[in-house]
Amino acid sequence: MTENNKETIERATVKTVVKTTGKTVVLGVCGGIAAYKVAYVASALTQAGVDVHVIMTKNATEFISPMTFETLTANRVIVDTFDRNFQWDVKHVSLAKKADLFVIAPATANMIAKMAYGIADDMLSTTVLAASCKKLVFPAMNTGMYNNPATQRNIDILKNDGMFIFEPASGYLACGDVGAGRLPEPDKITECVKFFLNSDNTLKGKKVLVTAGATREAIDPVRYITNHSTGKMGYAIARRAAEMGAQVVLVSGQTNLEAPFGVEKIDIVSARDMFEAVKEHGKDCDIIVKAAAVADYRPKTVADQKIKKSEGDAFIDLERTDDILKYLGEHKKKGQVICGFSMETENLLENSRKKLDKKNADMIAANSIRQKGAGFASDTNIVTLITRDGAEELECMDKYDVADIILKRLADMM
Ligand code: CTP
Repeated sequence: MTENNKETIERATVKTVVKTTGKTVVLGVCGGIAAYKVAYVASALTQAGVDVHVIMTKNATEFISPMTFETLTANRVIVDTFDRNFQWDVKHVSLAKKADLFVIAPATANMIAKMAYGIADDMLSTTVLAASCKKLVFPAMNTGMYNNPATQRNIDILKNDGMFIFEPASGYLACGDVGAGRLPEPDKITECVKFFLNSDNTLKGKKVLVTAGATREAIDPVRYITNHSTGKMGYAIARRAAEMGAQVVLVSGQTNLEAPFGVEKIDIVSARDMFEAVKEHGKDCDIIVKAAAVADYRPKTVADQKIKKSEGDAFIDLERTDDILKYLGEHKKKGQVICGFSMETENLLENSRKKLDKKNADMIAANSIRQKGAGFASDTNIVTLITRDGAEELECMDKYDVADIILKRLADMM
């Protein structure tokens, strides 16, 4: 990111549409070495405006201090002190009722077994039993314990009960074994929690194809032609579409971004690859959003060997690539809604309207790279949505929020 861009983003007034603020997550932490990773999750969710309440088993406090979670979440941690003198505090039951989501991480074999059989002999298992919200379970344990038929049987019971179980990652385990049993990394868990918190049914049963990022057109085995697209806008659209309940295919050029949770990603390199992938996967899609920055030209021939320099100037013969959006517009299926993007440096609205007609799109999301808070690499964008009915100018907002509005408008058009 350039210094200029940074300044631009800081100065822009960013409007937030989709909020995790005000949502309540109960985080159940069991006694496993991976408990420390959950501190990052608690912190990230709190920073996203989520009200995080942590319940720890007694064993969990041997691995990480309740004070860590209390400091990170600004909420009192409930530790399992379930003894004879214990006074049942209805607040704990009300917490179960208040929770929008229950996350159990790391979930030990013991806790999984208790949840499977409805055993409520400590604070965490009791609150799990009382809660009726969606429950995400992240098992983490020794490979042998995880693969044990008893644990697998219990996991199947939880699945049948409607809990969401996330396969542990494979790798080096604290016990020295190598295999399945690692708790996924905190950012993966956080992303997954946010996905569930933000999910709705706006696009349930619909199939959405999104293209994102830049294409690369090879000159020789060493060099290529590309552009500044980072893929952030397209990835935000794919992520939000999946949260809205759609089946999402993301056709992506080279980016540094991870595939959003719940999205099928297809990696491509060139405009030709993207064209083929879109033709194959776009056929039965209800919505297609072409956020990718596709090369308009490619070298006529690709040299087999590295081109050596010689005296004087060099020239590359270029030929046109296929206009994928135009192809989609010409082959539009009944009921299908197609949205393109338009990146301009001048005459934004006029040029974008022309693209809407020429490519037979239903919407063009027009953005100028000249505006503060918009364009490549930025986390925000300023977009005008152009349809045959008119133009809707959006404020500067996070690309994720822009994605939300684009998808809602497209859903309305279907
Ligand atoms: N697009 C495409 N295939 C191409 C070029 C562009 O599908 N070969 C799509 C882009 O993904 C975007 C829309 O067309 O959704 C507009 O892209 P843009 O680069 O703004 O405009 P172009 O059509 O390439 O026209 P120009 O370069 O003249 O502005």
